[in-house]
Amino acid sequence: MSTALITGASGGIGYELAKLFARDRHDLVLVARSNDKLTQVANELQALGVTVKTFSLDLGAEPSPKFLYDQLQREGVTVDILVNNAGFGAFGEFAKMPEEQTFGQIRLNIVALTELTRLFLPRMIARGTGRIMNVASTAGFQPGPLMAVYYATKAYVISFSEAIANEVRDAGVTVTCFCPGATHTGFAERAGNDKSRLFKQLGAMSAEKVALDGYRAVMEGRTLAISGAQNWLVAQSTRFAPRKLVTAISRWITEDAKS
Ligand SMILES: NC(=O)c1ccc[n+]([C@@H]2O[C@H](COP(=O)([O-])OP(=O)(O)OC[C@H]3O[C@@H](n4cnc5c(N)ncnc54)[C@H](OP(=O)(O)O)[C@@H]3O)[C@@H](O)[C@H]2O)c1
Repeated sequence: MSTALITGASGGIGYELAKLFARDRHDLVLVARSNDKLTQVANELQALGVTVKTFSLDLGAEPSPKFLYDQLQREGVTVDILVNNAGFGAFGEFAKMPEEQTFGQIRLNIVALTELTRLFLPRMIARGTGRIMNVASTAGFQPGPLMAVYYATKAYVISFSEAIANEVRDAGVTVTCFCPGATHTGFAERAGNDKSRLFKQLGAMSAEKVALDGYRAVMEGRTLAISGAQNWLVAQSTRFAPRKLVTAISRWITEDAKS
């Protein structure tokens, strides 16, 4: 029986991923800030016959990833699959964005993901087996005016993940960068872009469908996977179109549907 550690498992894509891992009989370590929601998820998934540990932690706070790692070491838990899913975005002009929002995105989307990878990867390499799934976004393929920091954090996740996937290619460990497009979860409301053309007009996928794409990608050991054919096409098109045009279109879809 293997153990999967999933960050951001109290809701959205992380919760759907947790269900998929539990159905395939993986024990779970679930992390998020909300203790109540984690307990509820743990009770639901334990009924499927797997062991579920929960950690109520703000991963954007500096010592949390190390605390989590040390605690699991003390308890003798081996993490076979690390899913760095927790992340958030904030909508608004960069110059007007509160400091906490700007750096909160960097701390969670970049620093915590990098730190957890840094902590768990060496042991996977030593065992000659393991999987890491880093949840990026199709946002990572182009600049994102009005969500500049969020888009940039996801570009980091793509670049970082592809690079380390290459470094460990002969070590028995796979690193999968998974890129959802717009998905119906609590994400857009928290980001403040739930009224954007992207979410209002262009359409979002269900969290269940996205999680299934992600689950398959990580179990197949794919390096880069984009959820949904339409999202794949859009991501490819950004490679050939002029950067200024790509950036202008990116802004247009991020603006409110009314404007
Ligand atoms: N939804 C989309 O349209 C979309 C598109 C592309 C990529 N993504 C990416 O997919 C991932 C999951 O997003 P989602 O849509 O499922 O979002 P979500 O519904 O808002 O869920 C986010 C999860 O992360 C947890 N979380 C948030 N801040 C945290 C913190 N500081 N420390 C620990 N846990 C934290 C949340 O739980 P608590 O609030 O209890 O902490 C929740 O479990 C993110 O990386 C996101 O960037 C989402």
